[in-house]
Amino acid sequence: MNTITSKEQHEFRIKILAWAATQHRPMPWKGERDPYKIWLSEIILQQTRVEQGLPYYERFVARYPTIDLLAAAPEDELFKMWEGLGYYSRARNLHATAQYIAQELGGQFPDTYEAIRALKGVGDYTAAAIASFAYGLPYAVLDGNVYRVLARYFGIDTPSDSNEGKKTFGNLAQAVLAPEQAGVFNQAMMDFGATHCTPALPKCAACMLQSTCAGYAQNKVLQLPVKGKKQPKRGRYFIYVVFELDTDTLVRKRSEKDIWKNLYEFPLIELAENPTDEDQIKAAILAQFFPEGLPKDVFLPIISKKYQQTLTHQLVSTWFCTLYLPIDYRARLLSNPLISGFQQVHRAQLTETMAVPRVIAWFLSEKPSVLSLF
Ligand code: ADE
Ligand code: SF4
Repeated sequence: MNTITSKEQHEFRIKILAWAATQHRPMPWKGERDPYKIWLSEIILQQTRVEQGLPYYERFVARYPTIDLLAAAPEDELFKMWEGLGYYSRARNLHATAQYIAQELGGQFPDTYEAIRALKGVGDYTAAAIASFAYGLPYAVLDGNVYRVLARYFGIDTPSDSNEGKKTFGNLAQAVLAPEQAGVFNQAMMDFGATHCTPALPKCAACMLQSTCAGYAQNKVLQLPVKGKKQPKRGRYFIYVVFELDTDTLVRKRSEKDIWKNLYEFPLIELAENPTDEDQIKAAILAQFFPEGLPKDVFLPIISKKYQQTLTHQLVSTWFCTLYLPIDYRARLLSNPLISGFQQVHRAQLTETMAVPRVIAWFLSEKPSVLSLF
C-alpha cells in the first residue's frame, strides 16, 4: 500500500462529514449527551440492526429513565424486556454494570476511555462509541463497516482480519478521525457503511466520495475489503451405534466439554479420518464393541447416509449404524465396559423427553422406521 498523505486523510474526513450533513437518519440517541442512554443504546446495538434495536431502546428508556432505576430492576423483568434480542449475556452484563455504577460509582457514569472500556460487556468498539458520543473523546470506532469504507476508499487490500490489517486499519481510522467532532464523525462512518457504502450494492454512482475513491478508480470496489483465508474447520467423523434392544436403545448424557455437553447420544465411535467405505465403519464397530467377533448372520448393521453439520470451528460428519442384536448376544454387549455408563430407553422417551444433538434429532425424524422394532 502506498502511504496515505495527511492531505488525503483530511480530504476523506471532510467528505464523510459533508455526506453526514446531507443525511437525516433520525435516531433517538443522536445528539444525546446522557452517557447512560448512549451506553444503553450501544449495548442494544451490539449484534443487532438499528431497525430491530430501536423499539427496545425506547422501551428501556421509558421504563428505566436513569441508571439507578435500571440497577434496581428485577433481573426477570429485565430479561423479559430483552426477549427477542438474543445473546442474553448482554442483558446480564447490562444489569451488572448498572448495579456497579449505581452502587460503586455513586451513579456517575465513568468519563475516561479506559474506565468505560473496563465495564463488563464493553469492548473496543463500544468504548470508542460511548467515549466519543458522550464526551467527545477522540477514539475512532472500528468494525466491519469501517474496515469496508476505508479499504475501498483508500484502495487497501491488506486482509482486514489479519494482525497486520487490524493494525493498518486501526491506525488509519484513528488518523482520519475528526478529533474535534469525534462523535459526529464516528456516527457518520457507521451510517455511511451501513446505508451507502454497503457490502453488496454500494451506491458508487451517487457517491460524494467517488472522485477520490481509490477502490472505485481501480474498479475493485466489490473485491474490498479482502478477507484473509478462513481458518479451515476441523473435520470430525462420528459413528453412532443405534442398538435395537426390542423397544429400547442405549443412550448416555454426553459429558465431553468439546461439543454437545449434557445432550443425550448413542454409543459413539470417533474416527480420526474420513472412512472411505462401509467396511471401515463395520470394522470399527466390531473392534470397539465385539472384539471377539460376531457371526456374519448376526452382525448386520444398517449404515445410514452421511449427515453433515457445520459448527463454528468444526465440520462433523456422522453415520448412524443401526444394529439389531438377537437376545443371546445382548448380555455380551451389556457387559462391555464401554456400555456401562449407558441407559436403556424407549424410543418415545428419547424423542419426547431427552435433548439430543441436532444431527440425532434429524436422524430420528427422517428415519422413524430404522428402529424398526420400536
Ligand atoms: N451500531 C452500533 N452503534 C451504532 C450507532 N450509534 N448508530 C448506528 N449503528 C450502530
Ligand atoms: Fe464506497 Fe463507492 Fe463511494 Fe467509493 S465510490 S466510497 S466504494 S460508495
